Amino acid sequence: MQHILITGANRGIGLQLTKHYLQAGWQVIATYRNAYDNDALQALECPQLAMLQVDVGSDEDLRNLATHLHGRGLDLVINNAGIYGPRDQTLGTIDRQTWRQILEVNTISPLMLAQALADNLAQNQGTLAIISSRVGSIDDNSGGAGYMYRSSKTAVNQVTKSLSIDLAPRHIKVVALHPGWVQTDMGGPNALITVTESVAGLTNVIANLTSAQSGQFINYDGDGINW
Ligand SMILES: NC(=O)c1ccc[n+]([C@@H]2O[C@H](COP(=O)([O-])OP(=O)(O)OC[C@H]3O[C@@H](n4cnc5c(N)ncnc54)[C@H](OP(=O)(O)O)[C@@H]3O)[C@@H](O)[C@H]2O)c1
Repeated sequence: MQHILITGANRGIGLQLTKHYLQAGWQVIATYRNAYDNDALQALECPQLAMLQVDVGSDEDLRNLATHLHGRGLDLVINNAGIYGPRDQTLGTIDRQTWRQILEVNTISPLMLAQALADNLAQNQGTLAIISSRVGSIDDNSGGAGYMYRSSKTAVNQVTKSLSIDLAPRHIKVVALHPGWVQTDMGGPNALITVTESVAGLTNVIANLTSAQSGQFINYDGDGINW
């Protein structure tokens, strides 16, 4: 049986990823930030599902996670947890504290999670998938603005690249994935695709990932994205 850990699994893309891997017969550790906001996970009532409270920005929670794992191997870790911040991120609206909070969740925490779980992934020669965003692509930026969210995803792409190099000797693959513009609380109702379509694509990309693709930025349909 294969083992996966997913962050931000209580709603949106993370919840759908959890459902997908449970249906595929994996042992799933689904983590959520708030104990009072995990009803959708609780409702899954599946013996292969373990739920754990992890605020990805909390070192204490990451230590508890390591204790919970007790050295067990992981085949796949999906760093899905993320925040957008204020909808309006145009020039003149940006404040330092809000930007720092977004960087904390979207950029710093994925690296801290990777540090905490590298040994578990190495045991199973596993994969670390970091859910990034196309709006983090400098090449793709024709619209401007979005300063805080865009930069947090651009920076996590660089984190992904370094991790892929540093973890290659331990046979861990690391990729940054764009899930599409998805109908979730973050993506909004006008987004182009459903969580089901996004997760079908993401999980297909992950299932077919080669070592040569480690360190790449990949769309949910399998196409590469320029940095
Ligand atoms: N939807 C899109 O169109 C889109 C496009 C590109 C990229 N993405 C990326 O895809 C990922 C998932 O997005 P989504 O659309 O599913 O968003 P969502 O519906 O807003 O869900 C975000 C998830 O992240 C969790 N989270 C936020 N901060 C956290 C923290 N400090 N610790 C642990 N969990 C935390 C949330 O938990 P709570 O419920 O406790 O808040 C929630 O489970 C994000 O990384 C996002 O940037 C989304």
